[in-house]
Amino acid sequence: MKKVYLETFGCQMNVSDSERVVTLLENEGFEITKDEGSADVVIFNTCSVREKAEHKLYTRVGQIRNDPDANKLVGVMGCVAQLEGETLFEKDRGIDFVVGTKAVGRVHKAIRNAESGTRNVIDLKGREDDYDWDVSHTARHSPYVAFLPIIEGCNKFCTYCIVPFSRGREKSLAASEIVRQVLELRRGGVKEVHLIGQNVNSYRPKSESGLEDFKGATPFSRLLRAVAATGIERIKFTTSFPRDFHPDIVDAINEYENLCNWVHLPVQSGSDRILRAMRRGHNVDSYKKRIDHIKASPRSLSLTTDIIVGFPGETEEDFEATKDLVRYCEYDAAYIFKYSPRPGTPAGELADDVSAGVKTSRFLELENIQKRNVSRSLSKSVGSTFSVLAEKRSGKDSRHLSGHTTCHKVVNFNSNGASEGDICNVRITEAKRNTLFGERI
Ligand code: SAH
Ligand code: SF4
Ligand code: F3S
Repeated sequence: MKKVYLETFGCQMNVSDSERVVTLLENEGFEITKDEGSADVVIFNTCSVREKAEHKLYTRVGQIRNDPDANKLVGVMGCVAQLEGETLFEKDRGIDFVVGTKAVGRVHKAIRNAESGTRNVIDLKGREDDYDWDVSHTARHSPYVAFLPIIEGCNKFCTYCIVPFSRGREKSLAASEIVRQVLELRRGGVKEVHLIGQNVNSYRPKSESGLEDFKGATPFSRLLRAVAATGIERIKFTTSFPRDFHPDIVDAINEYENLCNWVHLPVQSGSDRILRAMRRGHNVDSYKKRIDHIKASPRSLSLTTDIIVGFPGETEEDFEATKDLVRYCEYDAAYIFKYSPRPGTPAGELADDVSAGVKTSRFLELENIQKRNVSRSLSKSVGSTFSVLAEKRSGKDSRHLSGHTTCHKVVNFNSNGASEGDICNVRITEAKRNTLFGERI
């Protein structure tokens, strides 16, 4: 049996693709190994969102090829595969096969072709008509948490972003199929399902089947209600897009307790001028209105975001506006990125005129403001009791379990006899830098 080692970079969509590829390969007679050294085939599921992410691939292929004894096939799937295609064989002589983002269902065929001696095997073709989105019986990163893609691709074309090119146009999965999978996952012991997509708010299935019974302004908020009605313990969703984030989503969360109290709403910048140049379709005012509505929820929703510093033309004044907005929103977590020009995107044509030094200092300054937000939000939690899904036992102390709250904060806690997979009431005794510590009661 040939052994395959699979390494995944990038977002949840890649994690989800990898989960399905593991299952597919096992069904096709391959063995999946965690030990790179003993693998016959190494596959990298890659990300192109920033230059650094892309470079990881070349570093890793280099490491494998540097070992003269390693006689392995090396394959590339994911976003770099889709965007670079044939050029990967020229750039990097160590690559044997390339499988695009829509061709992951055929990765076993690419491996077989490469095994039989065909050089430069490449498949960038589209999905097969009967491509199966089903994740209810696939391998998963956790037995209790499942990622369920509800929409793939992106039509937004934010000027800095490569994703619409690597993932193609938006396509939504039928609501009835999503509900069926959630019920199946629940029967299989899954406690928490993450509905995932580049922009879940623009969920728009071809037919409404499965959503007719649910009130609500947008197909996405109706989908949330339909999924909530399955009774699965917890539902989270990422990523939201400010322009499409209808207030009705918060109303749905207020109505159903199993819709978790967490919203990830990437803002990218606090300057209207930069937001226009990014073509985000929202401005600071419209974003703040959404935030005010989120903060007014009686469920005390936690709020997280993504921010880019150093977009072309970003002035001190623009950056000051971003700092103001981060102070205003008091995010529970913010993922801050230095702008990285992506060839082929509209912003990639502009001069990358904010120097590396300025990008770094803005990054650090914003990180400092955000650290204060995090510490405020975590210390506020001390003394409160949260519902925590015990996802794994601590490596350091087997009496401790670790998991997430419904508002997606990480909690380590004294298990007092609880097991992995249990949903526990945990009283918080201590706020650490980025996590909480507590005691199961
Ligand atoms: N679909 C999501 C996430 C896309 S990628 C969304 O719309 O928010 C995740 C994050 O990477 C983005 O939110 C953005 O903050 C960051 N990002 C995307 N392109 C980037 C680039 N060229 N340089 C730096 N950060 C980037
Ligand atoms: Fe990229 Fe914008 Fe689409 Fe998000 S919404 S994936 S940032 S183009
Ligand atoms: Fe990266 Fe592709 Fe996701 S570029 S962020 S892996 S969609």
